Amino acid sequence: DAAETLRQRPPVVTIMGHVDHGKTSLLDAIRKTNVVAGEAGGITQHIGAYQVTSPSGGKISFIDTPGHAAFTAMRARGAKVTDIVVLVVAADDGVMPQTIEAISHAKAAGVPLIVAINKIDKPSADPQRVRTELLQHDIQVESMGGETLEFEVSALTRQGLDELLEGLALQAEILDLKANADRAAEGTVVEAKLDRGRGPVATVLVQRGTLRTGDIVVAGSEWGRVRALVSDIGEQVKEAGPSVPVEVLGFNGTPEAGDRVAVVENEARAREVTEYRARQ
Ligand code: GTP
Ligand code: NA
Ligand code: MG
Repeated sequence: DAAETLRQRPPVVTIMGHVDHGKTSLLDAIRKTNVVAGEAGGITQHIGAYQVTSPSGGKISFIDTPGHAAFTAMRARGAKVTDIVVLVVAADDGVMPQTIEAISHAKAAGVPLIVAINKIDKPSADPQRVRTELLQHDIQVESMGGETLEFEVSALTRQGLDELLEGLALQAEILDLKANADRAAEGTVVEAKLDRGRGPVATVLVQRGTLRTGDIVVAGSEWGRVRALVSDIGEQVKEAGPSVPVEVLGFNGTPEAGDRVAVVENEARAREVTEYRARQ
């Protein structure tokens, strides 16, 4: 349709790396200081995806996948949610098996990779060794004459975190990410659970269009009418646009991570789609 208006959207970033190299610590450190509209005390619950503002004002969405399994599962189901991978390598430990796995994931997904050399605060940190080891796996960072952005960081002291965010904003600018906000929403389930009080709760990353309360949504073989949308800081919101992660309440059953989400015209259509899928 010629009337389609594409507008800039924030990058969606996945953090990957070897066990205990500090992925969760880095995400927590970034989130604490940079959560969008993050007044102290605003963080009331953990959701698996959230958005922060970089020092220069651009928004960045992070997906906190519980390890590589979820990423692989999503990719296997055709869900392309990530624009940029941040590869976390502990400066005192160097390149390890899951570091190499993460490099292959990023390559297979065809997304740019940014290196975060973490735990730089440790006396035993040896970032130069990390760079040399990365080179053996075809990752040539800037200081080694390559083009891969690299940042020395510490989740503990917060050293280098602003620079990392700026690097992500710069990479996003190069990628020139766009989406149409003025259409029926489409997205992907990042995680989902059955909550005792709230029923099925799906964390959805909206990728195109705008998701609104009252919309009829289908995800895999589940559907529902959106009863409420809850933001990453636990606030109820009326709508969520491209690259925005949001909790969706109102599904009749619990969808699965990696399920594609789409808004349909009405309940009859939702039943038709999900009944057909359930038979497959
Ligand atoms: P998995 O999810 O289990 O793969 O681990 P992870 O990569 O999320 O690492 P996590 O954040 O759990 O950190 C592992 C350990 O390293 C914890 O004890 C952290 O406190 C510590 N750690 C993380 N970042 C830093 C850092 O920058 N400096 C120091 N000194 N310790 C860190
Ligand atoms: Na850990
Ligand atoms: Mg972790």
